[in-house]
Amino acid sequence: MSGLRLRRLGTTGVEVSELGLGALTFGRETDEATSSRIVDIYAEAGGNLIDTADVYNDSEEVLGRILRGRRDDFVLATKVGLPTQGPNRVGASRVHLVRQCERSLRRLDTEWIDLYQVHVWDPVTPLDETVSALDDLVRSGKVRYVGVSNWAAWQIAKGLGVAALGQRQAFCSLSPQYSLLERDVERELMPLCLSEGLAVLPWSPLGGGVLSGKYRRDDPPPEGSRAARLSNSTASVQRRLADERSFTIVQAVQDVSDATGRSSAQVALNWLLDRPAVTAPIIGVRSLQQLENNLDAAGWRLDPEHRRRLDEVSAVTLGYPHDWNQVYGIRQGAKPAREISGVH
Ligand SMILES: NC(=O)c1ccc[n+]([C@@H]2O[C@H](COP(=O)([O-])OP(=O)(O)OC[C@H]3O[C@@H](n4cnc5c(N)ncnc54)[C@H](OP(=O)(O)O)[C@@H]3O)[C@@H](O)[C@H]2O)c1
Repeated sequence: MSGLRLRRLGTTGVEVSELGLGALTFGRETDEATSSRIVDIYAEAGGNLIDTADVYNDSEEVLGRILRGRRDDFVLATKVGLPTQGPNRVGASRVHLVRQCERSLRRLDTEWIDLYQVHVWDPVTPLDETVSALDDLVRSGKVRYVGVSNWAAWQIAKGLGVAALGQRQAFCSLSPQYSLLERDVERELMPLCLSEGLAVLPWSPLGGGVLSGKYRRDDPPPEGSRAARLSNSTASVQRRLADERSFTIVQAVQDVSDATGRSSAQVALNWLLDRPAVTAPIIGVRSLQQLENNLDAAGWRLDPEHRRRLDEVSAVTLGYPHDWNQVYGIRQGAKPAREISGVH
């Protein structure tokens, strides 16, 4: 494969590879030696963005050992906010953010986190408390940039406003669930990210493996697969395959795969790589073979006819007021006042 290209992380001065590497599997279904080889091969291909979280079992510790001696070669992202054990060990309060950041630094065996992401919206903590605690972490040198994951558009917009008013570090990225199977983000979140220059780092770009085409409606999940191992994943794969829309999308990906000679995973990832707001899908792999397959999703483009087919079969209705604006909106096609250029 040709090397991964670099894209700007939102409006920061940092560049990340067009495919990020998720470490959710590290130390879980993927042993440490294989995880280490995965990082080697990813780096050889030009990859430099690694994503983990405080709640991914031993992932941070495993990564800490794997990255020893080559920490500078990577943009390391982790997350905070999902429940850990005990009272006050959840959310985006100052107490939890500062304590978990220090723990993540220890587990990752590093002096700094490049991208510290709030994993989930916290409906209890005042946003000003979250934004100022994150700002302090940046000023202390423990964190370089801050981002969010799984937040709604109004929550991000409010957070950006709070940061701007207090001249505090603003979120530079959003990590949302986004794939051919999950395009709800295109209603509000993607326009917001384009407008405000946030990097978009989609998670579950293969819908947890469904878009690789390995699951069949009437067959049990293949041995060793996530759906065969984890009961919550079995249920979600079964739900997806039972759903007509999802099933049709998986079939369309398979058709494009047959027509192009690319694997289904490559077709699905390539489609996502080229979406307007996307910076770097975060790929998840269990094995070296999956990694090599998925890295070959970059370096080529779906032809317009295949892209159109995938666009159409997976399209979501935008709903009001977006649909209304498509019919009655004024100045359609005109350039917006604020143009974000060079975000990619
Ligand atoms: N911010 C968040 O809330 C959030 C949530 C979830 C994930 N994430 C991040 O996003 C990363 C990716 O998420 P994900 O693991 O759900 O991504 P995904 O790409 O949708 O699914 C990855 C899984 O699909 C299977 N797979 C991958 N490539 C394959 C291939 N070429 N052929 C066949 N099967 C293949 C593997 O599972 P099996 O082989 O085991 O079936 C692999 O673990 C995670 O590592 C994590 O860093 C973030």
